[in-house]
Amino acid sequence: MRTQVGIIGSGPSGLLLARLLHLQGIDTVILESHSRDYVLGRIRAGVIEQGMADLLREAKAGERMDKEGLIHEGINIAFDDRLERIDFPKHTDGKVVMVYGQTEITYDLMKAHIDEAGGKVYYDTPVIGVEGYDTDSPKIIYEQNGQRQELVCDFVAGCDGYHGVSRKSIPADKISLFERTYPFGWLGILSDVPPVNEELIYANHPRGFALCSMRSHTRSRYYVQCELDDKVENWTDDAFWDELRRRLPPRVADSMKTGPRLEMSIAPLRSFVAEPMRFGRLFLAGDSAHIVPPTGAKGLNLAASDIYYLSRAFIAYYKEKRTDLLDRYSETALRRVWKAIRFSWWYTSLMHKFDDDMMTSRLQIAELDYLVNSDAALTTLSENYVGLPYEKFE
Ligand code: FAD
Ligand code: DHB
Repeated sequence: MRTQVGIIGSGPSGLLLARLLHLQGIDTVILESHSRDYVLGRIRAGVIEQGMADLLREAKAGERMDKEGLIHEGINIAFDDRLERIDFPKHTDGKVVMVYGQTEITYDLMKAHIDEAGGKVYYDTPVIGVEGYDTDSPKIIYEQNGQRQELVCDFVAGCDGYHGVSRKSIPADKISLFERTYPFGWLGILSDVPPVNEELIYANHPRGFALCSMRSHTRSRYYVQCELDDKVENWTDDAFWDELRRRLPPRVADSMKTGPRLEMSIAPLRSFVAEPMRFGRLFLAGDSAHIVPPTGAKGLNLAASDIYYLSRAFIAYYKEKRTDLLDRYSETALRRVWKAIRFSWWYTSLMHKFDDDMMTSRLQIAELDYLVNSDAALTTLSENYVGLPYEKFE
């Protein structure tokens, strides 16, 4: 098989890239190791920045998001028996975020790209590796029905997530990896109950962090900080709801509606960056190049900013024979990646219980008290939360 841009992975990065390139007449093939239903069944991110929402509109996959997505103009932070609201438009010249699940975004992109435009996406087709990334015709080696096959491309986009093979196809001496793990995880529940509050609540509590989020007016997504080695099997629905309520201000806990789980899962927390994000004709984008801890909801949004830069670089190459944007992709994407890595690390450090050392928790409370009383600090949090602007890239 041959294509212009071979894409590994049909998560949000791969699908969004394929869709944006397709609209410009550029040929792509996506190879995905799992089934379409499996990819759609993964419950992940829920908050999207304006930059990502605009990119989904540009991809002509934003119609349902604009109808069903919830505009959020702020978040709430609970700490030290207080509940404080942070107003985004006030601190960012009118910016807001949108609550619309990654599952819905993936569904909308699949519908537009595969069902309506006939885009080529092969499921249950695991990629084994990338060969010749430093030649003019790199190859993606994959398996289909037990047979080894090759996809010859002009370029390869590694959109295959943290555990993918594209990053691992690069010799160790050509890539720098930066990593920090955290000594806890997040236990999440998805349930068809109305959200406890119209806006998200992030709670710093002596028992550990908690987050009240949502997917719609009738579907809630809640998280509690848990031990790294904890298992979903250790938690009944009732045990989860009890623990969540204990970590919230009493008037919030009292109005919590509970119900059976649609899904429950544990996610580890990690900060990770691979540099550079381009190796000859292989380009990494999204989770294959970087991971943030979920606090602040930056993971999916970073995938979108990578694809913003990468799609423009490919379009400039095919439409105008320009290679300068391809050359600038890695450094430009990484500037924004590192800022999100910094914000997620800071927000994670501020909101979680690290150990039983009271010094750490007193410092957190002092910083939170400072934060909610300082216009400068509120501006810093708000402009990072709504999303730092994309750099001019043309
Ligand atoms: P992915 O969505 O991981 O997609 C990569 C795709 O590549 C997958 O479909 C995978 O099956 C495929 N693939 C992998 N290896 C191969 C191979 N060898 N061959 C072919 N295909 C392959 N972000 C937030 O902002 N907020 C959140 O609340 C949040 N929660 C999360 C919870 C979990 C459990 C995880 C794992 C992530 C979470 N994230 C969250 C992060 C966010 O979901 C990711 O940043 C986002 O999915 C990145 O998209 P992606 O397309 O780059 O990677
Ligand atoms: C969600 C996850 C986050 O990490 C976050 O900061 C906000 C919302 C969510 O899954 O809804």
